[in-house]
Amino acid sequence: PAVAVLFGGRSSEHSISSATAGGVLRAIDRDRFRVIPVGITRDGVFVLEDDDPDKFALDASRLPEVVDNGTRVLWPEPGPDRTLRVRRADGSVDDLGAVDVVLPILHGVHGEDGTVQGFFDTLGLAYAGGGVLDSALCMDKHFMKIVLQAAGVLVSPWVTVTPARWERDPEGVRAEAAALGEPVFVKPARAGSSVGVSKVHDETELAAALELAFAEDDKVLIEQAISGREIEVAILEGRGGAAPRASLPGEIVLTTREFYDFEGKYLGGDGADVVCPADLTDDQITAVQELGVRAFDAVDGRGLARVDFFLTTDGVYVNELNTMPGFTPISMFPKCWIASGMTYGELISELIDTALE
Ligand code: DAL
Ligand code: MG
Repeated sequence: PAVAVLFGGRSSEHSISSATAGGVLRAIDRDRFRVIPVGITRDGVFVLEDDDPDKFALDASRLPEVVDNGTRVLWPEPGPDRTLRVRRADGSVDDLGAVDVVLPILHGVHGEDGTVQGFFDTLGLAYAGGGVLDSALCMDKHFMKIVLQAAGVLVSPWVTVTPARWERDPEGVRAEAAALGEPVFVKPARAGSSVGVSKVHDETELAAALELAFAEDDKVLIEQAISGREIEVAILEGRGGAAPRASLPGEIVLTTREFYDFEGKYLGGDGADVVCPADLTDDQITAVQELGVRAFDAVDGRGLARVDFFLTTDGVYVNELNTMPGFTPISMFPKCWIASGMTYGELISELIDTALE
């Protein structure tokens, strides 16, 4: 089958998606799949990219990017035609052949939020990963929590604030934040990779944290900081009508870093380790795996997701689901499946095969 690997994108996680592409281009099974690498620039232009894993390797000193090379990828019109075309910089148009499936490894808005999924639904093209609803729900931390709560899943207490509300009623917002206790996390509702996230230790830090988050999104969550171990499981939808399944759990182990922020995730900052499998009892493993699948079902999960938990003495909280989790070879999602007995290449094949069914 021909696979359009789609990466980059307009969100603040452009480079992370590009780094994921580096891993996927290196590991995808070339005996089975014909790869068409399609990059999306930060401005949202679809370009035919180089099929070059090294170009998109994760390098902390120079995060990879999709740059406009003058080409334009022309998607087929809605309907049975699946022919992909490219308009070259000189205006000539080449046929790239029929595309069987798109592998959108996009993070954040305009990619992990159901918009690109709806675009491919409209075109009638198969794609791997989340669908419109689960992607949209999980991109918005406010609605994700409401849906999880409705399914009986523990989530950390929060309030949602807009810039208009903050301007109109700062004392009201401060009072609601104070009711959550200290510390709290301030997060853009629709972002990822901890972009725009702050840990607020006391009320003097609240205003600056809100400003930082509002720069990313006009909807922001103030969330009670849950103290507990940070455990994650990787979920796959499964093929042939099988029930979704969860990997062995992994753990984010913080040593000197205060939380697992962007620097700790991607810039080689120390003080946070990604470990899989986590040191848990069999009962704990079963409990988080079951809860992971329950959370995946609650959001109508498709394809894959990573479910992030806090393991506390009062129970297991779900922090969030990520419908296109970081997918570089050293990211938690692949790491957990590798610990569970799959290879990185097999994981990519399963995602594509699930979409082709
Ligand atoms: N948003 C990042 C890529 C993650 O969840 O891993
Ligand atoms: Mg996230």
